[in-house]
Amino acid sequence: MDIAFEAVKPHIGSIVHVDRADMFTEEVGRRCREMLEQRTVLIFPRANLSDAEQLAFTDLLGARINITSRAVSDRPDEEPVYQVTLDRRINRQPEYVLGTFFWHMDGITVDMPPPKATLLSARHVAAVGGQTEFASTYAAYEFLPDEDKAALEGLRAVHSVAASLRPIADAIPEADRERVTSIGLIKDHPIVWKRESGRSSLVIGTTADHVEGMPIAHGRALLSRLVEWAVQPDFSYRHEWEEGDFVIWDNTGAMHRVIPYDADSGRMMHRTSIAGSEPVN
Ligand code: OGA
Ligand code: MN
Repeated sequence: MDIAFEAVKPHIGSIVHVDRADMFTEEVGRRCREMLEQRTVLIFPRANLSDAEQLAFTDLLGARINITSRAVSDRPDEEPVYQVTLDRRINRQPEYVLGTFFWHMDGITVDMPPPKATLLSARHVAAVGGQTEFASTYAAYEFLPDEDKAALEGLRAVHSVAASLRPIADAIPEADRERVTSIGLIKDHPIVWKRESGRSSLVIGTTADHVEGMPIAHGRALLSRLVEWAVQPDFSYRHEWEEGDFVIWDNTGAMHRVIPYDADSGRMMHRTSIAGSEPVN
């Protein structure tokens, strides 16, 4: 079995070179879990996985969960592979996909440990836009000046679906607005997540509404400065999708967002997720 990881950015992203025949072995699963921890984003160019293969690989990495059905769907028994698309014929709740245009972590408002990893296969790419960007919240914390680290000590932010929908709320047709934005998922988290590994990462993004005990304006300004810091070029990676690419990332150590694409672009991503086991504290 031959596997090699080629770094693409200083603190984030590695291309995985592995034979397709070896892709579904325990050993590859183990090495990928290890490297996910170190490199945050792993890229398998043109892997062309079928849904069954994506599910098999997902199961190699950990316990599979369907985060969208937990958060927003009225059909908790739905397909194990979630189709990320703005196509109204397939996705009747495109608002939540529009929310992915903004820096976020998946599943952070749900009352369970944040999902460990998200896995995406590009089934159809958009001609314009649709690149996915990732920013390491491990690097963001590690390289903060000491006085900023000290100032974050003990601070907690309140995360909500409503906050993540605020940038698009006025674009939702009025008849649907109440239904879409009334998902009352709210969860507070420390801004600095002290990890079981001994490292720390930031828990920030569009879901973070305000900082507990701080005037709203001051807290929001702090949260947006942290996001701006975290997405600097050395800490982030933009993936230019080609059809068949498979990308997986450590959702506990990164924010991500997609560059806007049109509903009629045909863009279609197949998504699976792995459950987390580490509560934020
Ligand atoms: C998501 C997401 C990114 C993309 O489905 O949660 O952030 O590139 N998707 O579609
Ligand atoms: Mn997402």
